[in-house]
Amino acid sequence: MEKQVVKVGLMGFGTVGTGVVRIISAHQEDLQKQTGLGIEIKKVLVQDAEKARHIRSMENKLTTDPAELLEDPDIDVIVEVIGGISPAKEYILGALERGKHVVTANKDLMALHGAEILNKAQEEGCDVFYEASVAGGIPILRALVEGFSSDRITKMMGIVNGTTNYILTKMSQEGADYAEVLKEAQALGYAEADPTSDVEGFDAARKMAILATLGFRVPMKLEDVDVKGISAVSREDIAYGKQLGYEVKLLGLARRDGEAVEVSVQPTMVPKSHPLASVNGVFNAVYVHGEAVGETMFYGPGAGEMPTATAVVSDLVTVVKNMKMGVNGRGMVAPYKEKILKDDSQKLSKYFLRIVVADKRGVLAKITQMLADKNISLEQVIQQPYNNGAQAEIIMITHLSSKSDMSNVIVDMEEMEIITEVKSCYRVEGGDQQ
Ligand code: NAP
Ligand code: HSE
Repeated sequence: MEKQVVKVGLMGFGTVGTGVVRIISAHQEDLQKQTGLGIEIKKVLVQDAEKARHIRSMENKLTTDPAELLEDPDIDVIVEVIGGISPAKEYILGALERGKHVVTANKDLMALHGAEILNKAQEEGCDVFYEASVAGGIPILRALVEGFSSDRITKMMGIVNGTTNYILTKMSQEGADYAEVLKEAQALGYAEADPTSDVEGFDAARKMAILATLGFRVPMKLEDVDVKGISAVSREDIAYGKQLGYEVKLLGLARRDGEAVEVSVQPTMVPKSHPLASVNGVFNAVYVHGEAVGETMFYGPGAGEMPTATAVVSDLVTVVKNMKMGVNGRGMVAPYKEKILKDDSQKLSKYFLRIVVADKRGVLAKITQMLADKNISLEQVIQQPYNNGAQAEIIMITHLSSKSDMSNVIVDMEEMEIITEVKSCYRVEGGDQQ
């Protein structure tokens, strides 16, 4: 007899797992109409079976034994929302080996071991979908894999970490102090258990590695991503940025020129006129440029129980539709292009520089000459008295410069007697020429 109901093994019953149960239960009729099959959660794997749960109806389905899900031939799909690398990786590979399809929200795992998992899924003819791993409720992976399958993507810029965007927004709009706002973000539950991953840019880097792999179809690894977090961003940098027409954002950038690619995450000055500059608070956004389509942008909630669960259950719907049509294992193609990484001389950006100098005649001329000697020309300059007029602060925006030229300039500036301190240097992205 043909299957009427697809049985799901849910691994993890925390924030996202709870949302998954709520959506499947509340939208059962709609899901059935779309897929032609019912969806039932048969077992739920947790760490502590005694813990009080928000949803009582699942109590008799809880187990702490993964074999009850993995070895059950009745279970067709495993939804993994435990998080972390181990044991999630072993469970996912174990599920695929047994011919079960997988849906996961696990960015850490997919950024580090995505290629291995996708290859295993292809070998076994199984689906693996992970829409919720990047930008929570925004269907950006589906857009890259399906919506832009006919195009060649040249650039993606993403605000993909809600915690850091919340902190930078508060610093910009209220002049708030970094440490204070970080505490607030933790109390509101936006930050990861260890906020280092958010504020030092590692969470965003994992998401950018996933986006670049799918967008450019190359096997990007986490170590291919240049990462710098927001812990050194000061209120002064934000204020000067604003004065020059920019907002500071922790921006993920994935850019392809010809076949060479670069991926980075760093605090970046974005012109106020760019749509990414007005993405505020915990919201996420991903800007995608394709050769044929031109500019597009995706905006929405990057985390939270229901937005993230929406992405997970939509993946589940795709798996069930594929089962109905007998086409599982063809959705997420493993990256097939050779990875060619740009060197620093090929990475071009404008830069924002803030330095403190001796306030003497001819100092600005010496600095601009030194920059010119290093192939760097200036687009905007402002000078202000500093330290009650004893010194001066110079804030500059350069024209397009290579990362290697800019790194050399910083080294030289740190050795120049007339320069007291190089306060900050940020990439500038999203202007007319970029
Ligand atoms: P969470 O609230 O901490 O829930 C984790 C769940 O996994 C809990 O139910 C826990 O069991 C269970 N668990 C942990 N270790 C286990 C183990 N060794 N064996 C069996 N069960 C185990 O986490 P979450 O926020 O829902 O996140 C889940 C995943 O979604 C992560 O990969 C995360 O990165 C991703 N994600 C989350 C969000 C979000 O907004 N929260 C957004 C996007 C992606 P107990 O309940 O018994 O402790
Ligand atoms: N800590 C992450 C963030 C959660 O702030 O975006 C969603 O991945």
